Parts: sequence; C-alpha cells; structure tokens
Amino acid sequence: MDSLIKLLFCFSVFLLFGEINGVEGSDKNQRMYGFRPTKLFVFGDSYADTGNIKKSLSSSWKFPYGITFPGKPAGRFSDGRVSTDFLAKFVGIKSPIPYFWKDYAGKKRLQYGMNFAYGGTGVFNTQVPLPNMTTQIDFFQNILTAGDIYASSDFSSSVALVSVAGNDYSTFIAQNRPNSEFPAFIKQVVDQTEVNLRRIHALGVKKIAVPLLQPLGCLPGITVASSFQRCNESQNALVQLHNSLLQQAVAKLNNETKQSTFIIIDLYNAFLTVFKNKGANPGSTTFQSPLKPCCVGVSSEYFCGSVDEKGVKKYVICDNPKSAFFWDESHPTEEGWRSVYSVLRESLTASFIKA
Ligand SMILES: *[C@@H]1O[C@H](CO)[C@@H](O)[C@H](O)[C@H]1NC(C)=O
Ligand SMILES: *[C@@H]1O[C@H](CO)[C@@H](O)[C@H](O)[C@H]1NC(C)=O
Ligand SMILES: *[C@@H]1O[C@H](CO)[C@@H](O)[C@H](O)[C@H]1NC(C)=O
Repeated sequence: MDSLIKLLFCFSVFLLFGEINGVEGSDKNQRMYGFRPTKLFVFGDSYADTGNIKKSLSSSWKFPYGITFPGKPAGRFSDGRVSTDFLAKFVGIKSPIPYFWKDYAGKKRLQYGMNFAYGGTGVFNTQVPLPNMTTQIDFFQNILTAGDIYASSDFSSSVALVSVAGNDYSTFIAQNRPNSEFPAFIKQVVDQTEVNLRRIHALGVKKIAVPLLQPLGCLPGITVASSFQRCNESQNALVQLHNSLLQQAVAKLNNETKQSTFIIIDLYNAFLTVFKNKGANPGSTTFQSPLKPCCVGVSSEYFCGSVDEKGVKKYVICDNPKSAFFWDESHPTEEGWRSVYSVLRESLTASFIKA
C-alpha cells in the first residue's frame, strides 16, 4: 500500500473534540464472559490509525475522508470508522484516543486505552518518515514508565490490536528488490512481528489480537488491472505464506505463555467471505461490485482526495459509500469494516471467552 500516503500541502493543525470520539461502547455489545476488557492499546498502520498521522502527510485529513464519520476528515483512512473502532465496539469500550491527541483528552477518555498506530508504517521503516511499530511500542513503554496515566494494575483487563497490513511489502516492491527475495523477506517481517508481540505481552497486556494479512491481491490498487473484476492470485499466494508463518508464530507464543493470550483475527478469510456474500451472512452487506472502490482518482496519477494546483478535485466518489466495500485503493469503507467484523463476530467471541 505504497500509495496510501500522499505528500500533500500543509494544513494548520487544530483540534475539534468531536473528531476524537470513536464508536461508543455499550453493554449490549459486551459479550465477554471469561474476560472483560476495559482498555485497548493499538499498534500498526492505516487499517488501525484513528488520527495519529500528521495532517501535512496524509490524504486521510482531506475531504472526502471521514464524510460518513465523524462527518469531516479526521485522520481515518476511510469514509468512516476503521478496524480499531469496530474492535473497541466489539469489546464494549470507546475507541481509544490517538496517542497524538493524548494531551487534549480528559482523564476519562484515556481510561479506554490508547492508539499508537500510524498510517503508512510497518514493522520496519517504510516510505513514510513515521514511527515504525518498534517506536510505537517505545511510546507505549514510555507512558507506562512515566506512570502518570496508567498504573500496572490497569493492565489486568487490557487488550492490544497489532495491525500489520502490508506497508513493509509495498516498500519492498517500491525498492525494486528481486521477487526471489520475497519469501525470505516475509520471514523477516513475521519474525519482527513476533518480537513485537512478545514485547507487548511482556509490558503486561493480557490479550493480544493479531490480524492475518488481508488478501492484498484483491485491493483496488491491484485489481484496477482487471477493471476491479479479479484478485491477483500470485500476490495472494505470498499473503498466504505470510499468514501461515504468522499463525505458526502465534501458536508458538501461545504455547509459551498461556493458550489463549494471542488471538488471530482472520481478516484474509473475512474479506473473501464478504466479497462472496450473496445473503448467507445477514450481518454483512451484499456488495454488488465488491472490488470496486467508492472513491478513485480521475487518472492513474491521482487518488481519492487529490486536487490540482487550482484546487479542482481530481477524483470521483460513488453516490453511496455504504454500497462499496472499498473506500479507496487500499482501505475498506466503514460499511466494509462493519461487514468484516460481522463475519468475525463468532470467532472473536469464542477467542475472548477463553480467559
Ligand atoms: C524503527 O525505527 C527506528 C528509528 O528510525 C530505527 O532505529 C529502528 O531500527 C527501526 N526498527 C526496525 C525493527 O526496523
Ligand atoms: C499479479 O501481480 C504480479 C506481481 O505484482 C504481476 O507480475 C502479475 O502480472 C499480476 N497478474 C495479473 C493477472 O495481473
Ligand atoms: C509446546 O511447548 C512444549 C514444551 O515447551 C513443547 O514440547 C511442544 O513441542 C510445544 N508445542 C508446540 C505446538 O509448539
């Protein structure tokens, strides 16, 4: 997802508090029997970022991002809510405050945890000058060490979401490294992810949710080659290698710790299930053209949110974002994420019930 961060002109930074409120948690959504999380800590990239990325660095702070929620651009890479918001809703808490906005948040808001994810980042450094996952965990560790926001007793019911959605791989491709090196690089990415997971657990987080990589070969930036008709199976085969290594790493970690510490969120199959849904999954929308994004640049040099020097918009947007699974060339719409989490609900519930 190399193209998800576009260098755009600078906006003045100001904050409206409405922007930082995520999905409201409610008791109705409180399905945890064995384990009742009260805090969510989030690490990763644009699938999870809810407003850390700098306005000057990202299209996610430009119209039409955020038009569904919160109603204007606020840093999420979608028309509305993203993975973090839906996981928070699932566990029954408010979406955690982005790290960048922590000093503007009241104590009450901080109690739901914190989101350290930055769009465009990976476990290694990517094409954007933003904190990789190691540095994000450093931020978390520094906050714990300072001890003024969270006490160690706060962690007995904490959950982490660790999103690794492909920026390491788009960086690999952008560097024109030979395809023959891909499998070894995938191993490095998974090994580094394992290091990160171990570290987050050692810092005291009790449950750690790890999404499998989504089918990258089905992202609109790739399927544009077939007019959004077909996924690229050779890319999905590499994704499956990543996912099987990641599942092995998680099995090893669970064996070392306690069987149910690390939870796999199978985004790969959830995406495919939603694409194929013809009504069998009532909670999931049936998308007519699931691979076709809602918001696209008018030509290949432009993206969702692009404007030219005169401020003329260089993208088109679908009539109803709820009718599209994908928002832009690599990110789901809010309705897309809602459908994915609907498909995942049963397996997530089973994972969280294990104390
Ligand atoms: C993360 O970023 C820091 C700062 O750029 C760098 O020193 C470190 O090597 C990076 N970590 C990994 C695992 O690439
Ligand atoms: C799939 O992606 C690979 C690698 O990016 C590319 O070489 C190949 O041409 C693509 N296949 C199709 C059918 O588009
Ligand atoms: C789990 O750990 C035990 C003891 O450390 C080891 O003997 C066993 O092979 C491990 N199982 C797996 C699936 O890794």
